[in-house]
Amino acid sequence: MIKYLGSKRTLIPTLSRLGQASGAKTALDLFTGTTRVAQAFKKVGMNVIASDIASYSECFGKTWIELDGDSANHTELAEALGDLQNLRGEAGYFTEKFCIEARYFQPKNGERVDAIRERIESDYRGTWLYYPLLTSLILGADRVDSTTGIQMAFLKGWASRSGNSLELRDPELLAGSGESIRGDALEIVKHLPPVELAYLDPPYNQHRYFSNYHVWESLVRWDKPDTYGIANKRLDARDAEMKSPFNSKKTMAKALEQLVADLKCETMVLSYNNESWLSRSDLLDIAGKKGHVEIVDFDFKRYVGSQIGVFNKAGERVGIPGAKRNIEHIVIAGEKSIVQRMVASIK
Ligand SMILES: C[S@@+](CC[C@H](N)C(=O)[O-])C[C@H]1O[C@@H](n2cnc3c(N)ncnc32)[C@H](O)[C@@H]1O
Repeated sequence: MIKYLGSKRTLIPTLSRLGQASGAKTALDLFTGTTRVAQAFKKVGMNVIASDIASYSECFGKTWIELDGDSANHTELAEALGDLQNLRGEAGYFTEKFCIEARYFQPKNGERVDAIRERIESDYRGTWLYYPLLTSLILGADRVDSTTGIQMAFLKGWASRSGNSLELRDPELLAGSGESIRGDALEIVKHLPPVELAYLDPPYNQHRYFSNYHVWESLVRWDKPDTYGIANKRLDARDAEMKSPFNSKKTMAKALEQLVADLKCETMVLSYNNESWLSRSDLLDIAGKKGHVEIVDFDFKRYVGSQIGVFNKAGERVGIPGAKRNIEHIVIAGEKSIVQRMVASIK
């Protein structure tokens, strides 16, 4: 899986147990990011809707949530991956923007990303292989990047993993059914069917995913936009409509309140942490609209970038790492007996 700010990797066993204890057969993961949580729900047999505003997240959702690994033609996928793996590199947009002007990847890998991405577009668009191949390319590129995990800056010298050769691996499709949707949570939520379990993991602070992961966004869209600054971010990252109300202290609470009001679910699970703008009592108020509320706290290992240090735009270390622990809150709301059963399952 890609390195992702706020990814719930270490909470997956807990969220999976909570999901099972809820007894839900249908679930929604509304800020799905890497789709880890949606995958965990799918693995325990739920029909899952995964949704996010990012194109790369939609690509992951089309791969791991929408496709049924039991009915997919794995030989066809393996052959396509093998053909792409053998392509000779050819420098293009990706190499120029992200390996030469900015240095997120070594040019030898960037040239292969260019060649593979062009071939996926010309030979696989419109086929069932399109998204799994793209997912495999993103995962392969992430394994050889030269960042601390966000694409606001690259390291001054090459990270040692960036010298490895890009390798396309089987993305390992999951059995079961689901759906992947791209869009603004506040809009999407109005049109979704009711689900038994809804999981919400909105952004925590002012850091915008659209800017933090602009390379993946451009790699999936393949629209080759003009860029700006040392980080070579997409020009449209500056547009007002790309700003999420969840990234502003002023608008965050209201946005979440509206979202919860429009959400049609029996049980709601919301992730939040002690570095975010909402207080415990804000959380209780907002979640209370869905019934009985309990909050469980977890000591959660801080995102790796902040353990390594604080970097400026040129990737130079300019600050000392912050405290290494943060507290993740899991807020559970719904019918009292279900909420209590869920809490008991993780104690
Ligand atoms: C904390 S991350 C979710 C991480 C995810 N649970 C995981 O484990 O990978 C928040 C996500 O919200 C998405 N996002 C931000 N604003 C959004 C909006 N207005 N509507 C939908 N998704 C949004 C971001 O793209 C990001 O993937």
